Amino acid sequence: MVKVKYPNFIQIDAQRARGIVEDIRNDKRGEWARLPVETNEEEILRIEKIAAEVREKADYLVCTGVGGSYLGHRAVIEALKHRPETERKTQVLYAGNSLDPEELSDVLERIEGRDFMIDVISKSGGTLGPSVAFKILKRKLFEKYGEEEGRRRIIATTDPNFGMLHDEAVKNNYIQLAIPSGVGGRFSVLSPVGLLPMAVAEIDIRALMEGAKHEHDVFLEDTDNGSVLKYAFLRDYLRRQGYDVEVLATFVRRLHYFQEWWKQLFGESEGKKRQGIFPAAVSYTTDLHSMGQYMQEGRRNIFETVIEVAGDYKEETLAWMNKMAEEATVAAHREGGIPVFEIEIDDLTEKTLGELIWFFEAACAISAKLAGVDPFDQPGVEKYKENLNEKLNISREG
Ligand code: PA5
Repeated sequence: MVKVKYPNFIQIDAQRARGIVEDIRNDKRGEWARLPVETNEEEILRIEKIAAEVREKADYLVCTGVGGSYLGHRAVIEALKHRPETERKTQVLYAGNSLDPEELSDVLERIEGRDFMIDVISKSGGTLGPSVAFKILKRKLFEKYGEEEGRRRIIATTDPNFGMLHDEAVKNNYIQLAIPSGVGGRFSVLSPVGLLPMAVAEIDIRALMEGAKHEHDVFLEDTDNGSVLKYAFLRDYLRRQGYDVEVLATFVRRLHYFQEWWKQLFGESEGKKRQGIFPAAVSYTTDLHSMGQYMQEGRRNIFETVIEVAGDYKEETLAWMNKMAEEATVAAHREGGIPVFEIEIDDLTEKTLGELIWFFEAACAISAKLAGVDPFDQPGVEKYKENLNEKLNISREG
């Protein structure tokens, strides 16, 4: 269970909390919250079966996707990369999350002369970066294996009913995985978007879902005062006091991509109508020697959320020193006048990451509602796309 430690808890408005939870429950786009409960055995088995086939046939699975179609699985895979059992036969690579040509040429270099498959992940099926990367990788795949076998090496993770990618997948008989229609990009890590690449990387997706379900159940048991509500309501309280920047800090290097996932989750969900807390991230102890000064003595519009991993840290080890640095930093920042949340998980495993994912998704949706914005849309992202499409002479239809 995710624990939230904060020195001064405020009273939660239970009636308002219940109203918001009800609102999310009645919103079709709130389907992500039920994924850990409603994903059934058949769906998990199918994902595991496809993952086994990928591991059998490929040295690399190249996942093309951006934003919510990329960050969640990378966050979990990177966080658990260190374990000996994850010295994997099949490596997961990422493409299409930028238009920088070097990103794709690195991937092309890695897969040269090796067996590979593609998981093209896009809910809309038409996002520029992933679409371009997919086109180039698909050409490579067909050159290597021919069109018939090439098509068997493509997994299309997309909307089950609509979009260019859906149509292409149906026409060419790609392996298809459905992103449930009520699950938006940044809330999709616990759907096939995240589960397939994780399963290929030998992450125990059952344990991850169990962790998420546990956090979901704990939340429902205490809809007046649980950890999610404490964090969401305190964030809202701080926002109204003028704290408009939240820095997610961690002393655990392997959580870097988790921080990236978190930034996207909160940034895209809350930053609307000139509202929202700006989500930033730091990696300590490194950043204590760059951002540490600002955190200690800069403008007091920042609050800090530290992800902590509990455990038995043996004295005199480096891990223990790192833990001591964490305690010392939290104390120093509090003394310096920064409100600090400590978000603690028991260890770094699939189960606790599942808990943490569900915790932040729920807290994010509730925080956005408290700020009076819609957590599930992203109208602002469209503007740059319109400009870019105009420059590239791409019509809205693609
Ligand atoms: O959270 C979101 O909705 C976005 O970040 C999307 O995930 C991102 O834009 C990619 O979209 P798509 O999956 O449609 O390619």
